[in-house]
Amino acid sequence: MMYFDNAATSFPKPEETVTSVLRFLTSTGGNPGRGGHAPSIDAARLVFDARERLTAFINGQQSERLIFTQNGTESLNLAILGLLGKGDHVVTTAMEHNSVMRPLDFVAKTRHVEVSVVACTKGGSLDLKALKDAVSRKTRAVIINHGSNILGTVQPLDRIRDAISGKLLIVDACQTIGNIPIDVRKEGIDVLCFSCHKALFGIQGLGAIYLREGVDPVPLKFGGTGSNSEHTEQPVALPDRYESGTPATPAIAGLLGGLNFIDRVGLGEIGEKKREAKERILEGLRRMRRIKVYGDVDGPHHLLPIILMNVEGVEPSEVGYACNRAGISVRVGLHCAPLAHRAVGTFPNGGVRISPGYFTGGDDIDRLLEVMRAIASQ
Ligand SMILES: Cc1ncc(COP(=O)(O)O)c(C=O)c1O
Repeated sequence: MMYFDNAATSFPKPEETVTSVLRFLTSTGGNPGRGGHAPSIDAARLVFDARERLTAFINGQQSERLIFTQNGTESLNLAILGLLGKGDHVVTTAMEHNSVMRPLDFVAKTRHVEVSVVACTKGGSLDLKALKDAVSRKTRAVIINHGSNILGTVQPLDRIRDAISGKLLIVDACQTIGNIPIDVRKEGIDVLCFSCHKALFGIQGLGAIYLREGVDPVPLKFGGTGSNSEHTEQPVALPDRYESGTPATPAIAGLLGGLNFIDRVGLGEIGEKKREAKERILEGLRRMRRIKVYGDVDGPHHLLPIILMNVEGVEPSEVGYACNRAGISVRVGLHCAPLAHRAVGTFPNGGVRISPGYFTGGDDIDRLLEVMRAIASQ
């Protein structure tokens, strides 16, 4: 199998991830914070380590403000549903994923939250002047997709921070974390939402949200935390306030393995390998007739290993089908980002997304290009 869908979830996972999950399943085993016995204490220690490591990875200040969730979507739901109330105004962008747009649609309809969507260019760049103009006195928050999951374009958070002055900045870093360095303090991020199963090399079932001190959303879930069991009231202490129920401890173990892998190889080296793979694919596609590549792939903000393309006259679904038959995994359609595809001009049929990863081999790329050439020459 030739896997080019790392923007959905990274695959294969590094050895470190696999052994860490296996070790948890075969020897640690316990439910963290749910007992005084060794398996529970060991599991709690593992969760504590992962929380500390991940907080340091984003240069957060207090690890208790790093909350584990099920995925990037749950983190964004906690931020949006937990922070926005009746009469609030929120500004967002045309590059957003449905994990932002759908909760926003919900709060717009049920809580009369006013939503302004700032346009982006065909290349995925945000109009900073329009962003500044959209922010008003009643704006409660600005939600930004840090890196586009269809174009690979990264937004300049420092300039965005300046444009929105002191407003609450909520960042969807699902595509950027692990691909480019993120520093919540330097970049003035108030709320950072992300997945742990993409470029952090964790497994599916885990996401996280980092809340700057003073940002305290209403929890999405209430229930047992293993702490304060004498009270039927939800604890106020973090992270327990937001982590009700048994956590995805095997996935948290996997994340620790992923972070170990990143430490061993280095973010720079990992990024360079992905960049080389992306360039090699782009170079091959450029030589083919009838191939259209979208976005500003040669621009300074195209920093993610994501390519969006189409074959002229061929439906993306047909390209996907032909790739599948050849054992190649690409993702076709709208990628849960209908507004972004409208901005690019690929709505409603979408496009073909190719997202190589650290483990993408040269032979896989050759085969992918061969298959694309065959489709384009039909
Ligand atoms: C930009 C962006 N935001 C949010 C998400 C949702 O993340 P998850 O699949 O972890 O819920 C994704 C997933 O692809 C994404 O690309």
